[in-house]
Amino acid sequence: MDRIAIRGGRPLCGSIPIGGAKNAALPLMAAALLSDEQLTLTNVPWLADIASMAALLAQHGLAVDLPAPETAAQARVLRLGGAIQNTTAPYDIVRKMRASILVLGPILARCGEARVSLPGGCAIGTRPVDLHLKGLEAMGASVSIEGGYIHARSEGRLRGASIVSPAVSVGATENLMMAASLADGHTTLINAAREPEISDLAECLNAMGGRIRGHGSERIEIEGVQRLSGTTHHIIPDRIETGTYAIATAIAGGDVMLEGGRIEHLGAFATALSRAGVDIFAENGGIRVRRNGHRVRGADIMTEPYPGFPTDLQAQFMALMATAEGAAMITETIFENRFMHVPELARMGADIVVHNASAIVRGVKNLSGAPVMATDLRASVSLVLAGLAAGGETIVNRVYHLDRGYERVEAKLAACGADIERLAG
Ligand code: EPZ
Repeated sequence: MDRIAIRGGRPLCGSIPIGGAKNAALPLMAAALLSDEQLTLTNVPWLADIASMAALLAQHGLAVDLPAPETAAQARVLRLGGAIQNTTAPYDIVRKMRASILVLGPILARCGEARVSLPGGCAIGTRPVDLHLKGLEAMGASVSIEGGYIHARSEGRLRGASIVSPAVSVGATENLMMAASLADGHTTLINAAREPEISDLAECLNAMGGRIRGHGSERIEIEGVQRLSGTTHHIIPDRIETGTYAIATAIAGGDVMLEGGRIEHLGAFATALSRAGVDIFAENGGIRVRRNGHRVRGADIMTEPYPGFPTDLQAQFMALMATAEGAAMITETIFENRFMHVPELARMGADIVVHNASAIVRGVKNLSGAPVMATDLRASVSLVLAGLAAGGETIVNRVYHLDRGYERVEAKLAACGADIERLAG
């Protein structure tokens, strides 16, 4: 298994290209199931999760035209098309990537029935899908759980409905928006998620002939249509990758241009970073991040649905606060078990005490390198960030977690002066 070695203490200077958003690309790929015509996605990030979703769609019968590896970095184009041949999403694929649940709505809307393995929990929480299923039932589907699989059926087309979600769910909003695009009648999603990835999906569906309004707000209106066509869609930049490298610059010190990053997608994250004493501002079509000389200051955060502080940047921000002057309270309100990075950061000398959903971080002047490992994508990258500031060498194990969501993380950081390398395992 590959590992990453970091020898800390060097500031970052230069520029980092921000790739297409993983969490936009995955639902956009699932949207290819809504039409037999070709969907072309550009600005595709080449990540393990993208390959997993491509394999899932191929086993459903779609023609998936992945570019050759040697041209992929330049092309970043993914072409998907063809008819659905198989309406079952098998356990061995779904268990590896929870976003597989996003094929449920499209396949049910197109074929009148779908069998999708229950994703099961993961390291950060039980991750139920009840909001997805209740929404589809509101649209006339009958849903049962048989042998660990969701079995959804509808007599004829799904029907438009008014659906109030008791909790904000990104995935449920995406699944229901895709299903409603082909339903008979009007659907209103109330208490919908507002993430930029939701809006990106809605824009693509509208380009395919969909009729969606209100995306980006908590109330989304969808007029169902008989059929959708193909289109070409450019994926938005990844705001979580953007935030991760902003924190890398803050924790290591330096001055970095995040090429293509969009500050309007960062929400409360940019405010929190400014409160911590980091300069972050839009410049030349990207985002400039600077921290020279002074230490960062402790800044309290609470994760919330967009535009609140993103849960996917909580672990990274905690690594930064571990080096801050003063203390910070970090409260995780989205997932029930997203502090697994705490014991690993503590092994590097961080002073963190967890009480239920909150962690008190008391900054220390120096972290010290150590062999560490993590159990999920964002926890893994928080350890790389801590390694940038730590004295000595940090070895991050289980790098496959990182490869799910970060393209060439070691190359992007090394290009700005970090002493970091991947050790083939
Ligand atoms: C998406 O997951 C992202 N994944 C996650 O990013 C992200 O952390 C999460 O949204 C929150 O922003 C993708 O977009 C592929 P939710 P999702 O449904 O859709 C509960 C990463 O690191 N819930 O918004 O699964 C759920 O348990 C990943 O890139 C229900 O109770 O998240 C959680 O507590 C990690 N019932 C909360 O809602 C449901 O039916 C938010 O989950 C669905 C969710």
